Amino acid sequence: MLTDVELKSFNEDGYLLRPSVFTADEVDLLKSLSEEQFSRDAPSRVLEKDGHTVRGVHGSHLVDEAFSRLVRMPRVLAPAVQMLGGPVYVHQFKINAKKALRGDIWPWHQDYVFWNRRDGMTRAQAVNVAVFLDEATEVNGPLLFLPGSHRIGMLDLERHDGAEDGAEDWASNLAADLDYAINAPLLAKLTADRDIVPAKGPAGSVLLFDPLLVHGSGANMSPSDRRMILITYNRSDNILAPVANPRPEFLAGNDRAPLVALPETTSLS
Ligand code: SIN
Ligand code: MN
Repeated sequence: MLTDVELKSFNEDGYLLRPSVFTADEVDLLKSLSEEQFSRDAPSRVLEKDGHTVRGVHGSHLVDEAFSRLVRMPRVLAPAVQMLGGPVYVHQFKINAKKALRGDIWPWHQDYVFWNRRDGMTRAQAVNVAVFLDEATEVNGPLLFLPGSHRIGMLDLERHDGAEDGAEDWASNLAADLDYAINAPLLAKLTADRDIVPAKGPAGSVLLFDPLLVHGSGANMSPSDRRMILITYNRSDNILAPVANPRPEFLAGNDRAPLVALPETTSLS
């Protein structure tokens, strides 16, 4: 469970890093299972613009037993339930590869804009729980945050291509160009009174962040990959309104049954 100090810090900053929550052995297992997922040619796998480097893979908790257990482990599930104040299910699960030298950027954005406009999520009662599979350093493209920006609410962003919400093919929002990216003039306003902070931490860390927190990440300029699992929990009663052109299940979970935590002693394998 999160302490009052941790909850206060999350509410203030919009994120909370808990270092080394998973052991080195657990991280090794999650890394090898992630590589297996990266090696499978499937619609849920996304490539970088070069057409061959793996950018990430979605919905692995639906196809792999260890990832299915991971999302029910108390170390990731309990803080989400505590933070959202009620039962949750997985809206999205992805493993980002951020390959050495070839892993591309994530433009500045708020996740909730996509879940609201693309998936019909009615309230921002969701939380991201990231598990670091590699150390996140200054130089390997760590997540970058604008602390406190979640308190601004959902930014009113124009789509960069001027098209209707839901008109696009789902794959267009998984690559390094995002429909609702934050441009330089808006970023200048948002950073007038706050710094950009990199979320650095050892492998095995758990990072919780708010769906309204403005974030992005740069290129990986290091010789090793920066892999990260991102689980998005949504409150089971946070309804997804019907949308035109719904995204596949591996991008917008449709099993809203409240997740039941596994016993504390449960292992991944
Ligand atoms: C994201 O914004 O969803 C992921 C960013 C990253 O992996 O750096
Ligand atoms: Mn994001």
